Amino acid sequence: MSFDLLIKGGVVATASDVFRADIGVRDGVIAALGLDLGAADEVIDASGKLVLPGGIDSHVHIAQPSGDGIVMADDFESATRSAAFGGNTTVMPFCMQERGTPLRATLADYHAKADGECFVDVSFHLVISEPNAQTLGQDLPALIEDGYTSFKVFMTYEGLALDDMEMLEVMSTARETGALVMVHAENYDAIRFLADRLERAGKTAPFFHGPSRPIPVEREATHRAISLAEIVDVPVVIVHVSNREAMEEIARARRRGLKVYGETCPQYLVLTEKDMDGLNMEGAKYVCSPPPRDEAHQQACWEGLEQGIFDLFSSDHCPFRYDDPKGKLNPKARTSFRWVPNGIPGVETRLPILFSEGVSKGRITLQQFVALSASNHARMYGLTRKGSIAIGMDADIAIWDPEREVVISQSLLHHGPDYTPYEGIPVKGWPVTTIVRGKPIVRDGALVGAKGQGGYVVRERSAYARPKTRP
Ligand code: URP
Ligand code: ZN
Ligand code: ZN
Ligand code: ZN
Repeated sequence: MSFDLLIKGGVVATASDVFRADIGVRDGVIAALGLDLGAADEVIDASGKLVLPGGIDSHVHIAQPSGDGIVMADDFESATRSAAFGGNTTVMPFCMQERGTPLRATLADYHAKADGECFVDVSFHLVISEPNAQTLGQDLPALIEDGYTSFKVFMTYEGLALDDMEMLEVMSTARETGALVMVHAENYDAIRFLADRLERAGKTAPFFHGPSRPIPVEREATHRAISLAEIVDVPVVIVHVSNREAMEEIARARRRGLKVYGETCPQYLVLTEKDMDGLNMEGAKYVCSPPPRDEAHQQACWEGLEQGIFDLFSSDHCPFRYDDPKGKLNPKARTSFRWVPNGIPGVETRLPILFSEGVSKGRITLQQFVALSASNHARMYGLTRKGSIAIGMDADIAIWDPEREVVISQSLLHHGPDYTPYEGIPVKGWPVTTIVRGKPIVRDGALVGAKGQGGYVVRERSAYARPKTRP
């Protein structure tokens, strides 16, 4: 029997192995792995290339309304096109509950924005901002049954921050339903205290975003989130970890046998707080939370990736424009760091940065790259048909040229914002072809797929979370 697609001559890598094999695809699924597999309708020559599971970026923000009417610079079409060019086959955006809106209504909104628009597959995390009886007693348990098996909670941000009682209630619901909790760990009161003080001293430039959220702000909240999860006995993922001290809280919890998982992001490997020191609004283009730290903490994040303290490497893609053609940037953002939207773009550059700085420079193995870019995300978030190259899995594949040298530049990228914070960074290794469920979306660097080829993925529960009764 012949195949729909044959990927021939490449070196295949999974999270555990690297081997020479051709891949036969039928009906969007990997049907055969081996040599001399036979005929196919379409053949892709992968000689001299690496054939890897398509990237899964389990932390992106797309078309999220932020307060103050600021509009995100990517809709589902542009974000998923950009993701495909960056070697990704699945992205996981947040469906952000705004206070006063029921979860189901929010979700319907996001589906309406995504349906028919995507180049790669998509699956939503929920964000719980109003943990009332309706949300925790009814909506959330039903949505988890429907395959929305993870949600994020925030310990900071106006209108989002949960107090400890609310965190415990939410975590307890996660325990009973087998959902996985993701935590944004920063101490809200400490940030407000420091931001007030900085503003009163006239320190309002974007640079002061960093000093308003120093490391203890993150370390304390990380410790508290882990303690709350321990009290309720539920697994937890600490997302976007920026520094050694927060990472050590995670490592210590793991040594004690707790199911605590960590995620770090490119901004904590290659940016520093000094990047926020640009004149006028240039520094604002690097404002994200937690903020980038310094070289010593970059090194710590690398150690976390090498040693498996971090299971996940995600972009935290959160795109805004600064050229401001239609006045979309809140004018107050020019008056104080406090009003600069938090978040930077990176869905297209996440994997080239990890590949180049990690694999090409010998810090991590190719297998670790696959785990950190795809396999661990699939396991963590219940994407059971994705994240590996094996018979029966979705044929979600990225073909990489490991020798290709590129200098990252806005002009090469396909995202909506008007800049990349990674401008000028040289990388070795680049994704050239991206295949979603057996269909090429990007081929040899050119868009060949159409929007709507990406679909919505209903998920199983995390491999790490199982329903348990109330402790
Ligand atoms: O600054 C950031 N990280 N913005 C995105 C929202 C979030 O907290 O993940
Ligand atoms: Zn949908
Ligand atoms: Zn966050
Ligand atoms: Zn985020």
